[in-house]
Amino acid sequence: MSEQPVLLPYADPAFVADPHPLYRQLREEGPVRRVVAAGALEAWLVTRYDDALAALSDARLSSDVRDASDARLLRQLPEAERESLLSNMLRSDPPDHTRLRRLVSQAFTARRVAAMRPRIQTLTDRLLDALAPAGRADLVADFALPLPVTVISELLGVPVDDRHDFQHWTDRLIRRGVRAPDPAVVDEAWRHMRAYVTGLIREKRAEPGDDLLSGLVTARDEEQRLSEDELVAMVFLLLAAGYITTVNLIGGGIAALLTHPGQLDLLRSDPALLPGAVEEFLRYDGPVSPGIARFAREDVEIAGVRVPRGATVLIGSAVADRDPARFPDPDRLDITRRDNAHLAFGHGIHYCLGAPLARLEGEIAIGTALRRLPGLALAVRPEEIDWRPGGLRGPESLPVTFVP
Ligand code: HEM
Repeated sequence: MSEQPVLLPYADPAFVADPHPLYRQLREEGPVRRVVAAGALEAWLVTRYDDALAALSDARLSSDVRDASDARLLRQLPEAERESLLSNMLRSDPPDHTRLRRLVSQAFTARRVAAMRPRIQTLTDRLLDALAPAGRADLVADFALPLPVTVISELLGVPVDDRHDFQHWTDRLIRRGVRAPDPAVVDEAWRHMRAYVTGLIREKRAEPGDDLLSGLVTARDEEQRLSEDELVAMVFLLLAAGYITTVNLIGGGIAALLTHPGQLDLLRSDPALLPGAVEEFLRYDGPVSPGIARFAREDVEIAGVRVPRGATVLIGSAVADRDPARFPDPDRLDITRRDNAHLAFGHGIHYCLGAPLARLEGEIAIGTALRRLPGLALAVRPEEIDWRPGGLRGPESLPVTFVP
């Protein structure tokens, strides 16, 4: 393809506030567009639904960064940590992927997750109890963030009080590449995360409990089903994947409702619409945006476009989720939408392991907030909402008012 790559302009506040006009332009221009994404890395963006769906189950597209020809992708990771950072299921292909996923998949089945409902409801109510007297809050810092962090910490068996620590360092890592930070700062963040995670593992070895992390330590020590690097990588992945995106679903979902009063009224009048509303938030402005990275293991043709071996393929799930060929009137937020098979959780063998948990947390958090915070309204103008730049989309903060 001969066109110049298009920059995804994360320094442009208009793009950060609403990337969808550019996504739309790219989708209309072609099924595969070369883009320069965060951190000056070049990628081939798949823009349309059918192609994105096919690409997500194409075994020629690898999840392993070591298949990328752009050496900067690997160099972004500090050498000492590289091996362990790349040993997680998200960045592995079969057979390692299959083995690693199987180790934890039981903890995330629909049945296991449904049993967590009462606990998630209690945690949600507690957070809202603390907010209620004030009449104003930042719904990200005070609600959308602490809820998933606490849920995943409890599931893993990690002390909830540690959350400020790992939140701080994961936050630094997520931002890398967007604001081109000093590599020394990134190295420091990785070192801290590793020290933190190895400390947790040490504690579980000494004093195992009835939690996921203890189960993983047993799988490592007694059954040799994973290496020490894989164990560290798994814990880090579950901690990070288990909350950042869910914060964005809750914060972004509430933001979407507060900027679409008709949809808010509809949902208030019929709470049975809640599960469909959560699906629509995921489709309309998914937390993984523009999409999911893969690396071409060989030359491949996608929608008639030749993508060279080693290229980074960015499967534009958030772009495809507004493809008018798949979703009628795609730019309209419609919580009653039917046939809403969005790609926000991916597709194929890497389909989000935490999807049932994220859906449940989203439903409980958003539903309870609407019920318990009467008169909920934005305390800033919609265009003043501060969105996080980069591949994990969501509001940084959400100042609101309500009747105490
Ligand atoms: C994978 C999105 C919540 C754990 C994925 C993938 C996506 C995604 C798009 C596929 C990545 C790929 O194909 O390379 C989301 C969104 C969430 C969410 C939008 C919230 C709204 C969670 C939660 C957990 C979790 C709560 C809990 C631990 C994982 C794991 C994987 C994954 C472990 C890797 C699965 C694999 O490689 O087989 N997620 N996720 N996610 N997600 Fe989520």
